[in-house]
Amino acid sequence: MTDKTIIRFQQVTKQYDNDPAVLDNVSFEIERGKFYTLLGPSGCGKTTILRLIAGFIEPSDGNIYFNGKKVNQLPANKRQVNTVFQDYALFPHLNVFENVAFGLRIKKMKSNIVEQKVKEALRFVNLEGYENREIREMSGGQRQRVAIARAIVNEPEVILLDEPLSALDLKLRTEMQYELRELQRNLGITFIFVTHDQEEALAMSDEIFVLNNGKIEQSGNPNDIYDEPINRFVADFIGESNIVSGTMLEDYVVKFTGKTFECVDGGFHPNEDVEIVIRPEDLEITKPQDGKLQVKVDSQLFRGVHYEISCYDNDGNEWLVHSTKKATVGENIGLHFESEAIHVMRYDETEEDFDKRLEAYEEGSHGN
Ligand SMILES: Nc1ncnc2c1ncn2[C@@H]1O[C@H](COP(=O)(O)OP(=O)(O)OP(=O)(O)O)[C@@H](O)[C@H]1O
Ligand SMILES: [Mg+2]
Repeated sequence: MTDKTIIRFQQVTKQYDNDPAVLDNVSFEIERGKFYTLLGPSGCGKTTILRLIAGFIEPSDGNIYFNGKKVNQLPANKRQVNTVFQDYALFPHLNVFENVAFGLRIKKMKSNIVEQKVKEALRFVNLEGYENREIREMSGGQRQRVAIARAIVNEPEVILLDEPLSALDLKLRTEMQYELRELQRNLGITFIFVTHDQEEALAMSDEIFVLNNGKIEQSGNPNDIYDEPINRFVADFIGESNIVSGTMLEDYVVKFTGKTFECVDGGFHPNEDVEIVIRPEDLEITKPQDGKLQVKVDSQLFRGVHYEISCYDNDGNEWLVHSTKKATVGENIGLHFESEAIHVMRYDETEEDFDKRLEAYEEGSHGN
C-alpha cells in the first residue's frame, strides 16, 4: 500500500444467503486521482463492487479500507463517495439547480454558498444557464451531466459511475467519454467507472480491472491489458483476437498450426501446451508463398476504416484479419506477422502467477 492508496479491498467476498459468492476473495487498491474502470460481462459483480465502496452493502468476508481506515460498517452517508447511477436517479419534481443543490441543502449549507457551488458544478459540465430548466425538458446527455454535477458539487474524494453512458446513442456516448475524461483530469478526483464496453474502457482508463464471475482476471493499464492478456477470457473480452492452441518448444520458439515460429515469450516448461493470441490488426495479407500462414478467405466486411476478413487455415482455425487492403472471397492468401505479434498464454494462469513467472524469467535472463 502506498500513501496514494485511497481505497483498498482485502480479500473481499460477498455472498447472498447460501448462493455461490458473487464476489470471491477480491483484492485491489485504488490510487488517488486516477480513472479506474471495472470491465466485465453482465452479472460478473461490477455493481456489487461499487455498492460495497459506496457503503450500500457490507462484505460477507474480508475488509474494505478508505484512506487506511477500515470502513466495513461505515454507513454510506459518512463516506467521501458519490455515485452516478445508470438511470441518473434525478428528482423529476426539482429543476436543474435544485437537483444539483440537493446534497448541499441537506448539509444545511448557506444559500449564497450553495448558489456559488452549484453554478461552479454546472459550469464544469457545460450546463451554465440551465439552472431553471425542468429535468423533463433536458435531453439524455444533459440529464447525464446534471447527474455528474450533482455528484461533483459535494466534492467527494471518489466518484462512482455505474454505466452512465449506456443510455446514450453512439455519437453522444463518444463525446461524453471525452468530456468525462477531461472532467476527471481537471477535478483530480478518483473516478471508478463501470462498463461492459471494452472500447470505452480502453479509451478512458488509467487502470482497468477485468472481472469475470466475481473475480478479477487481470488488472493493469489499457496497453498492458491489450498487449499482454493473461488468458483466453481477457484476450477474448478485450478486443478481437485469434486464439489457437500451440506448444512452447523452448524459450522464444513456439509451434502452432503445425509450424514452428520465433517469438519473444519465455519462462515456460519445454514442450508446454499453450494458447497463442495474434490480434487481427497484426496480420498482413501477402501472396500465399510469402506468408507465414496459408489461408483461404471465407468472408469479408467493410468496417469504415478497414476490412474485416475472415479466413480459415487447413486445420480449420479461423483467422480474423483487419486490413486496409481488400481481399476476394474464396481466394488463397498468405498471412505475415512479426515475432512480436505472437503472444503466448499459459493455460489457467492467474494474474499473480503470471507476474511471478515474468519476474523470475526477467531476473533469470538478466543474470545470464
Ligand atoms: N441482493 C441480491 N441478492 C442476491 N443476489 C444478488 C443481489 N444483488 C446482486 N446479486 C447477484 O450478484 C451477481 C453480480 O451482480 P452485479 O449487479 O454486481 O453484476 P454486474 O456486473 O453489475 O452486471 P450488469 O452488467 O448486468 O449490471 C449477479 O449474479 C446478481 O444476480
Ligand atoms: Mg451492474
